[in-house]
Amino acid sequence: MRRKHLVVVVVTIFLCWNIMMYYLLVSKNPGKSISFEEKLTWLEADIKHELKENTGLLEQLRKLRQDAERQARQKAQEAIERQADRNVAPVEGPAQHRTEAPVKVPVRTNNEPVDANSVILPILMIACDRVSVSRSLDQLLKYRTSPERFPIIVSQDCGHQATSDVIQKYVVSDNIIHIKQPDLSEIELPWPKKKFSGYYKIARHYKWALNQIFHHFNHSAVIIVEDDLDISPDFFEYFAATYPILTSDPSLWCVSAWNDNGKGGMVSDEPELLYRSDFFPGLGWMMERKLWLEIGPKWPVTFWDDWMRHQDQRKERVCIRPEICRTSTFGKKGVSLGLFYEKHLKHIKLNDKFVAFTKKDLSYLKKENYDPWFTHMVYETPEVTVAEVMSGSKKHLKALRVTYTTKEQFKSVAKRLGIMDDFKAGVPRVAYRGVTSFIYSGQRIYLAPKSDWQKYDLTWT
Ligand code: UD1
Ligand code: MN
Repeated sequence: MRRKHLVVVVVTIFLCWNIMMYYLLVSKNPGKSISFEEKLTWLEADIKHELKENTGLLEQLRKLRQDAERQARQKAQEAIERQADRNVAPVEGPAQHRTEAPVKVPVRTNNEPVDANSVILPILMIACDRVSVSRSLDQLLKYRTSPERFPIIVSQDCGHQATSDVIQKYVVSDNIIHIKQPDLSEIELPWPKKKFSGYYKIARHYKWALNQIFHHFNHSAVIIVEDDLDISPDFFEYFAATYPILTSDPSLWCVSAWNDNGKGGMVSDEPELLYRSDFFPGLGWMMERKLWLEIGPKWPVTFWDDWMRHQDQRKERVCIRPEICRTSTFGKKGVSLGLFYEKHLKHIKLNDKFVAFTKKDLSYLKKENYDPWFTHMVYETPEVTVAEVMSGSKKHLKALRVTYTTKEQFKSVAKRLGIMDDFKAGVPRVAYRGVTSFIYSGQRIYLAPKSDWQKYDLTWT
């Protein structure tokens, strides 16, 4: 009986405990149980809250990444500028070779877009030991339209003190920049090549000076002149106007002031006439930075101008050249012998009229416009023999065309009509698509291959 009593008591206590716990729990959520819909609403709210927090986190991450990228770009830019500063050889060279002028030239940074109509076009004057460099500098200063747009940088080789003194005067009076090529060592050459050492030094100087222009001064383009050149009154106008064409036509790689057949009497009286030329003329010429980045690293040790004319460099690209030269040379005594000067160079006609090229539409010089027009003009011109040209029997015609099919034919006609008869890498001087255009006895002559001409014969030298 006692045992039965005990069991009843334990069961009663257990039941009471359970009933108590039930009421306790239910009273925490008084009067209602959680429905399924409510649970869904809570879940939705939870997810929304999480989403909000994650979006905030993402935003923070994005900001951090942008900051990191900005810092990296800044560092890279600073590194480029430091590298450019290190490339200034003159300040690190021996004392006597130091740049004598504080360098004050507007430079562009690599990322700035370039406006073709206002881009800085520095004049690089290559000098050595001619005190008559003042003649060239006086003309540059006389015809220059803007010192800001056309800063003058004279690069001097040869360590010639008297010439340095002359240039220094312009540094003081006209704020030009004078830099000096630091490597004046003799170039060791075997005996047969010794006579060409001047050409080796010129090539060495060009390489150094052009690296200064593009890697130190950081310019977008350059106009190169030598210390024995006179210039025409519209020299700056010509280069300013042709720069936008040069940058916009990938088949162009230079603008030159020179016509190799530009002797007086062999050019027409039309100073506004411009052409495309497969032949690289040099002698006052402009190129873009991107060309220097391409050819600078493989620059030759000698004969730089003939090297430029080689097909490995030219790659079918052409120059703009004028009918009447915008430069002429007074360098009678130079690295090459004076004979060529007496026979040819001193007869070159320098243009003396100002042509407002920047006011003209020069888009006809672009390949797509020029080629159809030029070939049509040449091949619709009546064909005659060289004897007929010389006899004057076709004088009533505006222009005449003489055909050549072999190298010997070209040379023979060229000699008889007085134009230059040599080829460089298969290209006759001045030629475009094989055609040489010049004036003979007041008449326009085209010395041209057959109309089905395809390409130059590289064996013609
Ligand atoms: C000829 C070319 C010239 C070209 C050179 C190299 C003509 C009329 N001239 O020079 O355009 O650059 O061949 O193939 O076709 N110079 C130096 N260091 C020297 C010697 C000269 O820098 O040791 C400079 C001169 O200052 C000048 C240039 O190189 O600016 C050309 O020298 P120059 O003596 O005039 O030789 P050209 O026979 O005219
Ligand atoms: Mn010269």
